[in-house]
Amino acid sequence: MCGIVGYIGTRSAPEFLLEGLTRLEYRGYDSAGVAVQHNGEIGIRKKVGRVEELGKLLASKPVRGSVGIGHTRWATHGGISDVNSHPHVGGNGEVVLVHNGVIENYAKLKEQLQALGYVFRTATDSEVIAHLIAHHLEEQIKLGEDPESQETCLKAIELSLKKLKGTYGLGIIFRDVADTIFAVRLGSPLVIGVGKGEHFLASDASPLAGYTDEVVYLSDNETAVLRADHMEISHRDGGRLKPSVQTINQVTVDLDLGRFEHYMLKEIFEQPESIENCLRGRIDEDSATAKFGGLNIEPQDLRLVDRIVLTACGTSWHAGLVGEYLIEEFARIPVEVEYASELRYRNPPLSDRTMVFAITQSGETADTLAAMRECKRKGHKSLAICNVVGSTIAREADGGIYLHAGPEIGVASTKAFTSQCTALVMLALYLGRMRHLSYHAGKRIIAQLREMPDMVRRTLQCHDAVKEVANKYQGFDNFLYLGRLYNFPAALEGALKLKEISYIHAEGYPAAEMKHGPIALVDEETPSVFIIPRGSIYPKVMSNLEEIKARRGPVIAIACEGDHRIADLADDVIYVPEVDDFLQPIVTSVPLQLLAYHIALKRGCNVDRPRNLAKSVTVE
Ligand code: F6R
Repeated sequence: MCGIVGYIGTRSAPEFLLEGLTRLEYRGYDSAGVAVQHNGEIGIRKKVGRVEELGKLLASKPVRGSVGIGHTRWATHGGISDVNSHPHVGGNGEVVLVHNGVIENYAKLKEQLQALGYVFRTATDSEVIAHLIAHHLEEQIKLGEDPESQETCLKAIELSLKKLKGTYGLGIIFRDVADTIFAVRLGSPLVIGVGKGEHFLASDASPLAGYTDEVVYLSDNETAVLRADHMEISHRDGGRLKPSVQTINQVTVDLDLGRFEHYMLKEIFEQPESIENCLRGRIDEDSATAKFGGLNIEPQDLRLVDRIVLTACGTSWHAGLVGEYLIEEFARIPVEVEYASELRYRNPPLSDRTMVFAITQSGETADTLAAMRECKRKGHKSLAICNVVGSTIAREADGGIYLHAGPEIGVASTKAFTSQCTALVMLALYLGRMRHLSYHAGKRIIAQLREMPDMVRRTLQCHDAVKEVANKYQGFDNFLYLGRLYNFPAALEGALKLKEISYIHAEGYPAAEMKHGPIALVDEETPSVFIIPRGSIYPKVMSNLEEIKARRGPVIAIACEGDHRIADLADDVIYVPEVDDFLQPIVTSVPLQLLAYHIALKRGCNVDRPRNLAKSVTVE
């Protein structure tokens, strides 16, 4: 989390920094700040709240210059306050930096620096880096090095990095070194935009949209020195690197809300198109299978895979669970779904024939990246199902499947989930067709997949009904979400959506499992959202629903159009079109997203910027 921007060139740096931070605000919105270098001085402005607040501060107290760095914060160490906001100052103002990441040994370093006389103004771990660099700079100067030289600064940075344990993406400027930005990366993403007589720095490519499509992705342990017309990259192990400039055609960012009040609602309504984009070009009708351009693995090697591990966090983990059901059903390959945060340290036995798939919208989630790297280190083919093109996970994976869902800006993931499920259906179909799945079964799956954009379009017609239900239930403080088979992950996802944006306590369970404990929670004050479309175990879920009703628990049912029986039992029904079991989560998750959205709205919550969350979780 946290977003970093930087600019060096001839434009007004504050303008670019502000715009860039707005585009990166999804990475954190506790506070924002900029530092701009001009005539041997560095002007700093920082403010609690959204980038908009920083904009107001800059309007009343401007800073001018064409070299600067900026930051939007998701607090890890130190409370949310103006003083803890970035940029941070080292020494007596000779170093100013912005940091994304976590310094694990900051307490010890802080003690050492305090003993040397450094005065800490903040409670953050990041300030330690600023003072540490200032300290090494001072030492270099004492050794007779030129304080205004880039080499001296680089040396001070290098010596400091050796002492840091943790992760960092850093943008650094020095008071006495004019017109130079230093950027360093270990574990937190940084991309450099290459313009004509100007360079840009950002945590991802979105701030570069409209400025340049030529980029250099910094890799771990690399340091970049940026001047307006020059760039140098070096590796920690020594030696200059030739920057690998890539042209990306996806540097676009659609910040336009159109007719929608929030990004979340816009993205929910984009789902027919995002699913269509995910499907585009990936169906092979002749062979009744799916095709992927970027898996980078030969069919004969895939045929040998005897176990699949899907690893992810949050919503993407829920999609993984859908993937487990799909792949085991269609391809009969055993699948495990692992929380990335567990997998990275758990060290489960993985055979040579195990394939690992990381599932991620952002491609930057620290735990997912670490889990994937750990598996790669052990020699396992590691692939990714990812939305953000050029993200760290997308670049480091051996191959994978892009979702093509377009930018997801709302913090609560919506369209990425349905696209992940769509990609997983295709993957299961592909793996299945090289094994037991018949041509005719493949054809049937394809026919139904092709209908999904329209099915989701039709599902969205439940919007008004959902609004009414939200109105009725907005005051409840506990919810159960219950579903079985493919709708169990949908239940987990529905509960996550509600808790993350409306701060209501919600639990997702397999519907039959609730009688082993959670049913004790059921009373008139605890509504259950039952995901009960017609399907292979409809009567079984119906019995579970009756069990809840017998205990006077209010029931909101997500059921199939034309299911009149359910209307007699449930207190409220939201209807969705009927699809086959394996496609149900794509359809049933839509009303659950809308329900969470409208309940949050009615409770006055900030839907797109829920408290304590950030879109991209780049700390572990
Ligand atoms: C929930 C949500 C998070 C993410 C999780 C993983 O709405 O957005 O739970 O799903 O942080 O993020 P990605 O998919 O970017 O790896």
